[in-house]
Amino acid sequence: MSKAVLVTGAAGFIGAAVSKHLLAEGCRVFGVDNLNDYYDIRLKLHRLDELRGQEGFTFDALDIADADAVKRYFEKRKVDVVYHLAARAGVRYSIDHPYVYQTANVIGTLNVLEGMRYHGPRKGVLASSSSLYAGHDAPFEEKMVVDFPVSPYAASKKSMEVLAHSYHCLHDLDLSILRYFTVYGPAGRPDMSPYRFTKWIAEGTPIQIYGDGTQSRDFTFIADVVSGTVAAQKPLGYEIINIGGGTRPTSLLEMIAILEEHLGKKASLEFLPECTGDVKHTGSSIAKAKNLLDWEPQTAIRQGLEATVAWYQANAAWLRHLPV
Ligand SMILES: NC(=O)c1ccc[n+]([C@@H]2O[C@H](COP(=O)([O-])OP(=O)(O)OC[C@H]3O[C@@H](n4cnc5c(N)ncnc54)[C@H](O)[C@@H]3O)[C@@H](O)[C@H]2O)c1
Repeated sequence: MSKAVLVTGAAGFIGAAVSKHLLAEGCRVFGVDNLNDYYDIRLKLHRLDELRGQEGFTFDALDIADADAVKRYFEKRKVDVVYHLAARAGVRYSIDHPYVYQTANVIGTLNVLEGMRYHGPRKGVLASSSSLYAGHDAPFEEKMVVDFPVSPYAASKKSMEVLAHSYHCLHDLDLSILRYFTVYGPAGRPDMSPYRFTKWIAEGTPIQIYGDGTQSRDFTFIADVVSGTVAAQKPLGYEIINIGGGTRPTSLLEMIAILEEHLGKKASLEFLPECTGDVKHTGSSIAKAKNLLDWEPQTAIRQGLEATVAWYQANAAWLRHLPV
């Protein structure tokens, strides 16, 4: 029988891409998501539609913060590996909505770990975030002390990392924690700059930039994130691993210049005050991922943005109506 995997957050940007990859590898994929409206649900349904067309995919609406529902889910669906990617994401939104970050990211993770503890799968790949490194100088290494998060989002990710550690020690779960760095690509998140800037340039809307645009990100293309995530399902014990671009980080202004080229249009820029809690520069050390997973990203920013723009243009007719 083919391997059965659970993907939480399967309608999300990374969850849908990971699910698609695992289906192509011949896995049976059980996807769950609560389809919340943090961003326009039509994008989540669009990703799900693609998955539903494929053999081996089963979707259940599930709120991972609901302990009883998660317990019943694990009783019903027997899986070998869990990719726990569901979460409330985004630093800015977490500042004004801290409670949902605790319930989805911390209680939600606790429920998933309890499900694993009592109902079978020993292996889990869990999504954490580079936002934990706020206050450190890049390149960020996993051994840096990140005990002082500066946003409710980062605090929730730190909490789930340490909770996972206790489940590894107490219940012998094998858990790979991946700290993702600004993931972008086709069907990406509309609250993130690659998507927003593409849309705004394409539609002639001024681009809103928080700060002066020199802030840089270690952008990581979705296909690379997928390969790193899937590689992390090997037995590792308990490891925290950066999954980042690993090259020279790209500033927002540089990204805009590349998008202008791909779209064949000039952007107009509107600068807003810097946002509290945001990291100024991110840059990952990927030595550990290379060493443990034999993984490194393959996609240059220019190439990744070209694919992002191509996807946007192919879907522009309906994406035009999605607010960001
Ligand atoms: N995209 C990035 O750049 C990035 C960077 C660092 C970390 N991450 C982490 O990677 C994971 C995936 O992120 P993404 O970019 O795909 O975000 P996303 O918002 O597109 O996907 C997350 C999915 O989880 C679902 N979800 C949220 N709360 C839920 C709940 N209580 N029950 C069930 N489903 C729920 C959402 O509906 C969404 O579809 C998240 O854990 C995120 O924190 C992402």
